[in-house]
Order: sequence, then C-alpha cells, then structure tokens
Amino acid sequence: MQELTPYAFRVVSFTFPAGEASKTLNTVQKLYEFLIQENFDRNDVLIALGGGVVGDLTGYAAATYLRGIRFVQVPTTLLAMVDSSIGGKTGVDFKAYKNMVGAFYMPQFVYMNISLLGTLPMREYCSGFGEILKHGLIRDAESYSWLIENRDLLLQRDRSAVTEMVYRSLLVKKAVVERDPKEKGERALLNFGHTLGHAVEKLKEFRLLHGECVAIGMVAAVQLSWKKGMLTEFQTKEILSCIQSFQLPISASGLKTEDILLTVSRDKKKDADKIKFILLDGIGNAVIDTSVTEQELADACEFIL
Ligand code: GLY
Repeated sequence: MQELTPYAFRVVSFTFPAGEASKTLNTVQKLYEFLIQENFDRNDVLIALGGGVVGDLTGYAAATYLRGIRFVQVPTTLLAMVDSSIGGKTGVDFKAYKNMVGAFYMPQFVYMNISLLGTLPMREYCSGFGEILKHGLIRDAESYSWLIENRDLLLQRDRSAVTEMVYRSLLVKKAVVERDPKEKGERALLNFGHTLGHAVEKLKEFRLLHGECVAIGMVAAVQLSWKKGMLTEFQTKEILSCIQSFQLPISASGLKTEDILLTVSRDKKKDADKIKFILLDGIGNAVIDTSVTEQELADACEFIL
C-alpha cells in the first residue's frame, strides 16, 4: 500500500480468508459493500494482489461494480502468473459448480514480480508446474523439452530460468487467448487436464491444489490419448514421469470412479450435455474430442485412482 500512496489520492485494502471456500458471491457482495462504503466510482481501480482466487474474484467484482471499473492483476503465485491472471476469465464458484458465474473482463495490465516466487511454499510453487507443463504439452513441444532440460534449475527457483519459463508459458497462453478470447473454439485446449482435474479438486474438497489436480487430470487425458492411438506408450510413460519429476501427483487415491463420473457429468451441463475432452495427438498438439465414451472415461479414472 505504501508503494501506491504517491500515485493515488487514497489507497484502501479489502482482504478475505485465503482459499477456494472464499470464491463465492458472498465474498463479492462483501467487496461491493466495502466499495460503496469507500465511495468507489468509475475513476477508481481495483488491484488484485494474490493468487488465482483473488484474481478471479476481484476481476468479477470489477466487471460488475458500476457496470465495470478498471482493475489490475498482480499475481503472487506461479500458477496465477502463468494462467489465471492472463486472458480475462473472471468469476466465482456457485453451489457445487466451479467458476459457474463470471465474465470475460480484461485487466488494464498484469504486473508480475518474479522475486515474489521466492517466498512461496514449495508445494504451492510446484502446483504452478501443472499449468506450465500443460502449456508445453498442448502447444509448444520445444518448451516442454526445455522444461525437462532445465528442471533442476527450475526446482531450485533459479531467477533467470524461472523468468524464461514464465515468459515461454505466457506466450502460449497469450497466442491462444488472442485468437479465441471467448472460448468459442481453440481456447478450450487450455482446459487440457481440467475435465477430470476439476472433478478431483471438488471431490477432494480443495485439499489438493489446482495445479496438482490438473496434473492428475492430464495423466488421465494422456492415458486416453494413448488408448486412442494418439500417443505412443513411450511418450505416455515419459509424460507421466515428467509430471512426477516436477513434484506433482499422478494419482488421486481414495476417490471412487462413479463419483468422478457423476461430478464430470454434472459439469458437462455447462456445455450442452457433451463431454468435451482435450486429448494429445502428439506432444505439443492438443485436440478437442467429443467422442470419449463413458467406458473410456471410467478406464481413465481407474488409471488415476
Ligand atoms: N485457464 C483456462 C483459460 O484461461 O482459458
């Protein structure tokens, strides 16, 4: 706040408890009440300083308060830097549904300070690799190989390697989002690992981090891609071992296949009753597939349990 004081007439702060449980309309309502009490008008700016929950929720409040005020993303986690702060997806969870209420609403800019990553707990830091590996796997085979080559430096959080990694990852996300900002087509590729990942996240009651659930979802999607002849067995095994080597889980023991299937089928209501699955047709080449059967999905679940 001190840093901002010379540039603003007044700086005030609103905080809420960390975690997915806060990503609700109830918190948005509290934020609206705070903004009204502090006389926020259309000349004012919201700054989302935090991880993905803070960014998504602040962006949604900015999109809707007074029909839209400016906001800036200042992501403080690796996952928020490479994914959620970029591309204008804002929103909150509603009842059992993740990101059910929201808006596409772009920040004025995104400010990232890589040195913030130095203080992140290791597990939180590694969660970011879930989305970073995803970007390589779906669209950038060269960066995927680069990640593997530089794994030790990246796990040690070497400043220049981390900067390069974030930059490469952002290039993938930027290119996809610029071509398809409202997810009419290609942007759905960014949901690689998310169909089952979201189900695991929900069923584990958010005790696993988002990137960890994406990793588990990617394992299932990779297995499905192999079963459909789109990846070789060697590639499949190599991807699994790569995910593990970045300290991410490859299974979600304790869950039941039928619960995962039920949760996925509830989620599919969001998308005209079709399960849209993202598969890999080779490393760096994700495709949208709507032909995955219930049985194939069940087999993929067995693989991660
Ligand atoms: N996180 C997926 C997207 O931004 O579309």
